[in-house]
Amino acid sequence: MPDHHPATESDRAAGEKPPALPMPPEVRARFDRIYQRPVVFDVQNLSRTFISPQGQSIQALGGVDFKVHRRELITVIGPSGCGKSTLIRIIAGLESASGGQMLLDGQPVTGPGADRGMVFQGYTLFPWLSVKKNVMFGLESTGRGGAAAEREALQWIDMVGLDGFADHYPHQLSGGMKQRVAIARALANKPRILLMDEPFGALDAQTRAEMQDYLLQIWRNVDVTILFITHDLDEAIYLADRVLVLGRNPGHVKEIVEVPVPRPRTPEQMFDPRFTRVKQRVEHLIHPPGEAPKKPLPVIRMTAVGDEVF
Ligand SMILES: Nc1ncnc2c1ncn2[C@@H]1O[C@H](COP(=O)(O)OP(=O)(O)OP(=O)(O)O)[C@@H](O)[C@H]1O
Ligand SMILES: [Mg+2]
Repeated sequence: MPDHHPATESDRAAGEKPPALPMPPEVRARFDRIYQRPVVFDVQNLSRTFISPQGQSIQALGGVDFKVHRRELITVIGPSGCGKSTLIRIIAGLESASGGQMLLDGQPVTGPGADRGMVFQGYTLFPWLSVKKNVMFGLESTGRGGAAAEREALQWIDMVGLDGFADHYPHQLSGGMKQRVAIARALANKPRILLMDEPFGALDAQTRAEMQDYLLQIWRNVDVTILFITHDLDEAIYLADRVLVLGRNPGHVKEIVEVPVPRPRTPEQMFDPRFTRVKQRVEHLIHPPGEAPKKPLPVIRMTAVGDEVF
C-alpha cells in the first residue's frame, strides 16, 4: 500500500474526500508506481506572512501541505496573488517561511542550493555570455570548470535541441530558445528538483505549446522532479501528473487532482473527454459555481443608438 495518497492531504484540510476522476487502469498503475517512489520534497504546514510598507500584515500562505515523489511532474495553479511565487521561492530557499518547513530528501531546507534549479518567466540569461557560457555558469560556480564543463554544457545544449547555437548570444535567440537555454542551465547543475515559475508565460501560444512538448521530452530523459507554476489551465493539465490547486487569502491547498490522461501526452488529448473532465474540475475549484460574479464595467456609451453589436 503506498504511504501517501494524493487526495488525503487536501481532504484532511477540507474534511471530505473528493472522488478521484475515473482513469484507465494503465494510468492508475502509473500513479501507484509514482506513490511507491521516495518522497523528494515534503512541504509541511508552510506559512508566510509579509509586512507591507504601511505596516499591515499580509498572510500569503497559511498551512500548505503536500508531498512530491521522485520524478513526478506537479503543476500549481491558482488565482493571482494566492501565493504561488511565494511558495516556489520558499522551496527554492530564496524566501524564508514564517511557519512550517520544507524537507528535501528528508532534510530541512534553510537556503538556496544547487540541488534546486529555477526557471522564471523573465529571461534571466546573462546577455554578455554566449549560450555555452551561460550553461557553463552554474557548472563553474559549483567548482566544475574547464574542458569537462564545456563538454557537459554542450550535451545539455543538445538535449534542449539547440545544437549549433552554443556560440550565439541571448539577443540572437527567440524567447522560446532563451527559455530552453535557461532550462539547460538549470539542469546542468543536476538538481533534484526543477522549480519553474510561469516559465512560458511570456511566449506566444504556438511557441508555448512547442515548449511544453520540449519540456516533457527533456523530463522523460532526465532524473529530475518538476514543480511547475502556471496560470494556464490547459498547460497545467497537459504537463502534469497531478495539479495542485491553490486557493487564496491565505494561500492553501484546495485539492490535488490526479490527471487521468495517459502518457506520452499529445495535443490531440486536449479534446479527450478525460482531459475536459479534469479541466472542468480544476476550473470549478478555481472559480466555484455560485462565486460572486465579477463587477461589470461602468456603462459609458460611445456609439450611436441603434448601432448595438448585441
Ligand atoms: N515581498 C513582499 N512583501 C509584501 N507582500 C508580498 C511580498 N511578496 C508577495 N507578497 C504578497 O503575498 C501575496 C502572494 O503573492 P505571490 O507573488 O506569491 O502570488 P502569486 O500567486 O504568485 O501571484 P501571480 O499569479 O500574480 O504571480 C500577495 O498578496 C502579494 O502582494
Ligand atoms: Mg507569481
